[in-house]
Amino acid sequence: MVCDLGKLVRSPFARLRSLLGSIEPGAEPIDMSIGAPRHPMPDFVADIIHDHAADWQPYPPIRGTDGLRKAVANWHGLRYPSLREQIDPEAHILPLSGSREGLFSATFLALARKPHVARPVVLIPNPFYQAYAAGALVGGAEPRFLPTTEATGFLPDFEAVPEDVLARSAAIFLASPANPQGVVASRPYLHELIALARRWDVMLFLDECYSEIYSDAPPPGALEVAAETGSLANVVSFNSLSKRSNVPGLRSGFCAGDPDFISRFAGFRNVACPQMPLPVQHASAALWGDEAHVEANRALYREKFEIAGSALGIRAPAGGFFLWLDASALGGGEEAALHLWREAGVKVIPGAYLAVETDGAIPGAERIRVALVGDAATTREGLMRTAEVLGPS
Ligand SMILES: Cc1ncc(COP(=O)(O)O)c(C=O)c1O
Repeated sequence: MVCDLGKLVRSPFARLRSLLGSIEPGAEPIDMSIGAPRHPMPDFVADIIHDHAADWQPYPPIRGTDGLRKAVANWHGLRYPSLREQIDPEAHILPLSGSREGLFSATFLALARKPHVARPVVLIPNPFYQAYAAGALVGGAEPRFLPTTEATGFLPDFEAVPEDVLARSAAIFLASPANPQGVVASRPYLHELIALARRWDVMLFLDECYSEIYSDAPPPGALEVAAETGSLANVVSFNSLSKRSNVPGLRSGFCAGDPDFISRFAGFRNVACPQMPLPVQHASAALWGDEAHVEANRALYREKFEIAGSALGIRAPAGGFFLWLDASALGGGEEAALHLWREAGVKVIPGAYLAVETDGAIPGAERIRVALVGDAATTREGLMRTAEVLGPS
């Protein structure tokens, strides 16, 4: 198969490496480019894995243990009260080895629902998480990128998608809270999007892996909004322990929602996708059952957003752990990344590296993404240096 995968799905970190090349950092380096959680993971994770050492031996069930699916179903009921008793661990939940592999492979099932369409479309926000585009391209679909700029409230304007494109669409991706912008899709926005997905019989894939990292109000969930319509049809939520519980190395996530889709995805995954090792399933069940460590984790992020507020005079985003800073005063994101590295030793991602060009512009090219994943002292130092280089906001 020939597709322009390499062109569209380039690692932003590899691009950053070539941008910075052999330039020496202007101070002791502080890496704020990678969005990998670095807060400590709960102690009980290692204990549970140790206690289930014998469970590394068998092949794990692709649908997961009853214990894991029940823990995820209970978590939905606690987090989204209107979903209490609404999520059936058998019908609605499927474990994933981290949400990324699921976000990639779910597209194949969405495409299989549209056999009559010669080249189905996958609608993707721009900037975007690259697994969405990778799935579309490998599946032979056409990725259509929808700009998410200040003018659109940093969320895609799905109402602006022409009807002939919607008629060919197989899947819609949306991240809420969004990476990198940190905006949260409101209930009315989600209601309209769900209605649109159903009108055109498109699968709506909601990437909610940042749902537990928020500033004030917990972001609404796609499934709780769908449930208000009396059905979960066409809606699948993807979530993960990577950010919520600081265990990106555990590779533990799930997808949940439309029972017909979940059943067909489970069948597909049974022959084509990785199972989650049993000790990881046991640890995951315990993590979904505990909120104390999640609250402590949020408090650490809140502290760092307060630091960002005083250093840069900005407000915390509604969710996620990134700053999406306007660097047009320095000539745009790439220029700013170069300045920050050369003058201050701070490594950040140029916004353009997270997006592609649509209609002659790269949304977010004037911005930089700053990940607040380090400890408070390092973050403070990095942000003070950033403020100095960026100048007054
Ligand atoms: C927007 C978004 N979606 C999904 C993922 C995948 O996370 P994981 O595979 O660890 O669950 C990430 C990770 O950085 C992300 O930023």
